Amino acid sequence: MTFLQTRTNIWLIPFMLGVFLFTVGYHVNNFTKLDYLHDSQSYYENFLDEGNCNCNCTVPNRTQKVPKILHYVYLNEDPNYLPFNFIHWLAFTSSIETIKPEKTYFHCIHEPKSYWYQLIKPKLTIMKTRIVTEIFGNPVNVIQHKSDIIRMEVLRDSGGIYLDLDIIALQPFDDLLYDDFTMGLEGEQGLCDAVIISRPFAPFLTRWIQQYKDFNDNHWNYHSVQLPYQMSQEYVNDIQVLNKTAFFWPTYMDEHLDLAFNSTNYNFSNNYAYHMWSSASYGKYLKYMSPKSIKSEETSFNRATLMKRPLTLMEK
Ligand SMILES: *[C@@H]1O[C@H](CO)[C@@H](O)[C@H](O)[C@H]1NC(C)=O
Ligand SMILES: *[C@@H]1O[C@H](CO)[C@@H](O)[C@H](O)[C@H]1NC(C)=O
Ligand SMILES: *[C@@H]1O[C@H](CO)[C@@H](O)[C@H](O)[C@H]1NC(C)=O
Ligand SMILES: *[C@@H]1O[C@H](CO)[C@@H](O)[C@H](O)[C@H]1NC(C)=O
Ligand SMILES: *[C@@H]1O[C@H](CO)[C@@H](O)[C@H](O)[C@H]1NC(C)=O
Repeated sequence: MTFLQTRTNIWLIPFMLGVFLFTVGYHVNNFTKLDYLHDSQSYYENFLDEGNCNCNCTVPNRTQKVPKILHYVYLNEDPNYLPFNFIHWLAFTSSIETIKPEKTYFHCIHEPKSYWYQLIKPKLTIMKTRIVTEIFGNPVNVIQHKSDIIRMEVLRDSGGIYLDLDIIALQPFDDLLYDDFTMGLEGEQGLCDAVIISRPFAPFLTRWIQQYKDFNDNHWNYHSVQLPYQMSQEYVNDIQVLNKTAFFWPTYMDEHLDLAFNSTNYNFSNNYAYHMWSSASYGKYLKYMSPKSIKSEETSFNRATLMKRPLTLMEK
């Protein structure tokens, strides 16, 4: 009897394993196809269409890997904190008009109530996000780090273009959707996570998330800026690294902010986008900006912004 039972149990093992793998596979499969994020049908069609080229192409077939959807993360757990202001409106409007995403997801815990938010809200798809308290058992209290984690999870699961709230897109991103994963240099030895372009489950991204096992909330930008740079040196084939002009130049240093916001000496025509570095520039420049000042004051930034015509849109 005991003998028989043992044998039965042994035979059950492969069967149970099969059931287990099937169940896991089913859920993983479902997970990657969450309806809400995959109404961007063209993303799948692009996979199906791979190599389906009935013209005489002279360029190699390129497959779009990244869905053209935008993700923003707005993580004020306190509903009265950080009102959504004109600068955010300007960044969102310019980026939506320039990139022309199929959808723009706004991941938040509480929606802002401000006037400028109400103005942009019709263009957004609101997603309630989770409250991050830890990652791999490591506590997370710094709000910027919570936002880092949400953006990584969202991009891993659905792919797309993540933008910080103070990024203003200046050129379409269409060229950037053909690689698994793309980031831009900040200075010489950093990849800033204020702009991330990723396909779902990009190998670079999943590996980066794994590194949060050693996360330390007290280190300001180690996991978000320095670590991806170090990884990019090792996993060169998993990431496209754009030069610092792409998104993060001029920098947040005083003379650079002056170049962007208080001179006409910088030409933004090689920037895909510009990070306004609001934590460094808000008090000195951004808080004085208005639709009127952008039109009347000639600066490098105002010139580049006006070319995107977001203000004309507002007047409609
Ligand atoms: C594109 O893919 C198709 C189908 O796989 C193939 O026949 C064609 O030669 C490819 N074109 C180029 C330029 O690689
Ligand atoms: C592609 O080029 C070949 C010869 O170079 C030609 O015979 C063929 O008709 C062309 N096909 C198309 C669809 O233009
Ligand atoms: C802008 O530049 C002018 C001179 O070029 C300077 O006097 C002024 O202080 C600068 N403004 C700010 C906010 O730095
Ligand atoms: C900026 O550079 C582009 C391309 O080099 C040029 O066409 C444009 O005229 C420049 N703009 C200004 C304001 O100098
Ligand atoms: C940086 O990349 C942009 C395209 O993203 C390009 O136009 C520009 O020439 C590059 N600049 C340098 C210094 O390589």
